[in-house]
Amino acid sequence: MDRDTAEPSVSSLPGDRAKRWVEYHHEVAAPSTYVYEFVLDATAPAAGPFCTDVDGNVLMDFTCHVASAPLGYNNPLILDRLGELELVDPLRIAGQDFYISGGWPPEAPDGPGPSQLMHRLVEATEHFDFDRVFLSNSGAEAVENAIKVCYADGGHRAVTFEGAFHGRTLGALSLNRSKRNHRKGYPEVPGVLSVPYCGCHTECTCGWQTDGPGGNALADRLHPKQGNLDPAEVAFIILEPVQGEGGYRIPNPTFIDDLQAIIDEHDIRLIADEIQSGLGRTGEMWGIDHTPLEPDVICSAKGLRVGATISKGSLFPEETGRISSTWGAGDIVGAMRGVAVLDAINEEDLLTNATDRGEQFTEAMTDADPSGVEAVRGLGLMLALDFETKELRDAVVDDAFDRGLLLLGCGYRTLRVLPPLDVTEREIDLAVSVLTESIEAAN
Ligand SMILES: Cc1ncc(COP(=O)(O)O)c(C=O)c1O
Repeated sequence: MDRDTAEPSVSSLPGDRAKRWVEYHHEVAAPSTYVYEFVLDATAPAAGPFCTDVDGNVLMDFTCHVASAPLGYNNPLILDRLGELELVDPLRIAGQDFYISGGWPPEAPDGPGPSQLMHRLVEATEHFDFDRVFLSNSGAEAVENAIKVCYADGGHRAVTFEGAFHGRTLGALSLNRSKRNHRKGYPEVPGVLSVPYCGCHTECTCGWQTDGPGGNALADRLHPKQGNLDPAEVAFIILEPVQGEGGYRIPNPTFIDDLQAIIDEHDIRLIADEIQSGLGRTGEMWGIDHTPLEPDVICSAKGLRVGATISKGSLFPEETGRISSTWGAGDIVGAMRGVAVLDAINEEDLLTNATDRGEQFTEAMTDADPSGVEAVRGLGLMLALDFETKELRDAVVDDAFDRGLLLLGCGYRTLRVLPPLDVTEREIDLAVSVLTESIEAAN
């Protein structure tokens, strides 16, 4: 498939083969998050955002597997590196917890192991003086380990934000505040307080700013006389630098300044959950790089292929066995994919591309001014459209799918748009034209 000329081309979606796959899948797969009747043909041509389904339809994927495939399909920057691996049994070699694997000088930059991935992650967070990484298997585990590390350092209370999503293990889900069914009926870590996440960009209407003694919802709770939360008991504040599942909300700078003041005053640890906003998605390596905040821990996953909890050596518990995972860091190929993604972001200047192409999308959609769209927002390639109603948003997702453009909803009536980090000008133009047609048709 030639990425420079490919276009979405669909006859019927889902086609007959896709229907059979979906039926079979539902016989054996437990119900989880299932959005589309889209069945990727993993053996058929695919390049960048373009992929082929089992009926031969060519689709344009602007979901990037919810940011887990940040470079789209069959990216040579990744495939070529993986193709060079000459290993006895790459898939059988578990992570680094019980022993580490070698075979090349440890500092060799192209060595494919978890240590090289950790090295890259330390480099990518050196502006925060981070020097240690714990690798796990998923985003939820990256969060789970981050909160364990903070609890181990002291405190039994935690602060999360309205609209937050941090994963589905019991610890991580206790911090979720996006959809009720994520937590319904499950036991939770006690002592979690939630306060508004201020994404207001004119007047603050979310409840963050108050007339109370602290001037905002968290400072009020922490106030020495009138508050009811003892800062000494707070193990961490966990923040998505741009809220993902909750609606691609970009924080208000005043909200960030307020958080900074609270953290400085009370010396509270900050966990930045960068699982959706990190790895270049917003045009900076980490979403938090757009703010003056200095996190104590960063959680990453998705595009890395493994989970990563990154911090300072002084914060991780010294005693062995406090955190551990047999397949943490995945296998050699998994760890190598994380290395290749980070190298591609740096070597191909994908942060600049994310910024430029994000602006192109936002300007083009703003100019198109489609009816029923309240706002076009975004930071880098973490892009969103707010619709007047949830029904219209859902209809647009369905219509775009019928035209061969894969998109996802988030929040209540928001559409999220996640092109690959190396998306081209032509591909953005193409997506904008399909999307505007879909909005027109769905109105
Ligand atoms: C911000 C954030 N945190 C945590 C997670 C959980 O990651 P995983 O699905 O890999 O467990 C997600 C997944 O979408 C996420 O967006």
